[in-house]
Amino acid sequence: MNGETVIQTFDLTKVYSGFMKPEVLAVDRLNMQVRCGEVFGLLGPNGSGKTTTTKLLRGLIFPTRGRAEVLGSPAGDIAAKEKIGFLPEESYLYRFLNAEETLDFYGKIFGIPRRVRRRRTDELIELVGLQSARKRALRGYSKGMSRRIGIAQALINDPELIFLDEPTSGLDPIGRREVKELILRLKGLGKTVMLCTHLLPDVQDVCDRVAILHNGRLCEEGALDDLLVLKNKTQLTVDDLTEKEQEQLKKFLAGMGHDKVTMTHPYDTLSSLFMRIIETERQGEHVREQ
Ligand SMILES: Nc1ncnc2c1ncn2[C@@H]1O[C@H](COP(=O)(O)OP(=O)(O)OP(=O)(O)O)[C@@H](O)[C@H]1O
Ligand SMILES: [Mg+2]
Repeated sequence: MNGETVIQTFDLTKVYSGFMKPEVLAVDRLNMQVRCGEVFGLLGPNGSGKTTTTKLLRGLIFPTRGRAEVLGSPAGDIAAKEKIGFLPEESYLYRFLNAEETLDFYGKIFGIPRRVRRRRTDELIELVGLQSARKRALRGYSKGMSRRIGIAQALINDPELIFLDEPTSGLDPIGRREVKELILRLKGLGKTVMLCTHLLPDVQDVCDRVAILHNGRLCEEGALDDLLVLKNKTQLTVDDLTEKEQEQLKKFLAGMGHDKVTMTHPYDTLSSLFMRIIETERQGEHVREQ
């Protein structure tokens, strides 16, 4: 049910230690919550503990102290694991299999019956937009296509909760947009998505709530809108004003006691400029081909 707690951590702590190696405090008394149906961004610079946190939540490694609950069970519980999907940081897919064979292979690992596997393979290939490359071996895939088949693989067991570790890293703006659209589509299907990344513009586009880690510690957690809104400022956007109109407006606002007024032309983002240029080029190519 939307809004219910899907992940909760209680002073979750991980210290890596090994023979003759210095100890590393990778996650430090982490307390955070992820709710059903949201896209949650786990953010932080390199080495801040994002991947370690997801490994703890998936039960791949054990906490040194503290604990975590995932889908109502202790992290790592078999029943919960079946409802979890995962895209790892590094690609690990078999390069000689094609998209269909890859999904069929992972479906078999989950013990999904053949007929269901076939149907789900078709649905997922469509969901991630790889219909035209479904028979091509993955070694011939671009990075964006590899990330998309990775996400499809993470969904083969129809999970309720999906961990995506750096899903957009190494992708160009088009590949990143495709992956972001896919994440929003998953949210539309009612899935909960936990996204680990340090690519902040992507987070701003898709996440409902975020947690920011630094040296394994939680520095901030909350809804993006609440964290980013500047409540002490009001922004007004109108079609281009003449200098005279600007002066009149300034006088009017001064009459209301507001004499600190800034009037500028807003800037577009580099990423939307890039997308517009590429799209225009592509449309041009399309017209020339006809
Ligand atoms: N298996 C391990 N053994 C020892 N130390 C480790 C191990 N895995 C991670 N660490 C250390 O734990 C800390 C957190 O690493 P982690 O991989 O969780 O960070 P991250 O936020 O995912 O970083 P990145 O953005 O680079 O992926 C780092 O200091 C890292 O060197
Ligand atoms: Mg990582």
